[in-house]
Amino acid sequence: MLSQQELKQQAADAALQFVDEVAAPDVVIGVGTGSTADLFIDGLAAYQGRIRGAVASSERSAARLASHGIEVFDLNDVAWMPIYVDGADEIDDHLHMIKGGGGALTREKIVASVAEKFICIADESKLVEHMGTFPLPIEVIPMAREAVARIVRLLGGTPNLRAGFTTDNGNMILDVKGMRITEPQGLEKVLNDIPGIVTNGLFALRGADVALLATQSGVRRLDK
Ligand code: A5P
Repeated sequence: MLSQQELKQQAADAALQFVDEVAAPDVVIGVGTGSTADLFIDGLAAYQGRIRGAVASSERSAARLASHGIEVFDLNDVAWMPIYVDGADEIDDHLHMIKGGGGALTREKIVASVAEKFICIADESKLVEHMGTFPLPIEVIPMAREAVARIVRLLGGTPNLRAGFTTDNGNMILDVKGMRITEPQGLEKVLNDIPGIVTNGLFALRGADVALLATQSGVRRLDK
């Protein structure tokens, strides 16, 4: 029986095959945030010299990339990336996701938007029939915290401020329980329109293109 850590490692290793496919001296890879993304970063260390470097979706991932000697680029200096590799908190079989458990959702959504292909790496426990058991993270501008919370309650959610946490962008996170996520793309748009919300953790309008889900019997690949 493989542990969850071993499953994450398998998913991270599987993503390195995609790096093999695109590796070239001018190629920059998009890198996500979280414990599974950390394992991917560790694997990426072996590609020094074969890729130009990476764009990170958090200060945490940037530091880990740099600790391996991988050059970290500012997204403003990178016009295109072939792949973005990141974990998820939940993913459904349409490859819609909830992300932001690590609080990096805004930079994750931005970096992913510049990549041609989003590759989600996770252990199989993240695959769900309907998203919403994991509280939906929403990054808010601090002065809008209560205004956003009131609207979220009207939408049926129960927002909880993530105590003692500030995002890399200097904002706060509301973790919202109880949202009915029957139409992830529609809800993502509704939340995008609320003043004070910087980013919501639904990644449905631009979901993953490929999911590599590690199971006890090997890595299962799902394509959009
Ligand atoms: C980070 O903000 C999240 O979007 C992560 O992708 C998510 O929390 C997955 O993390 P793990 O790989 O640690 O489960």
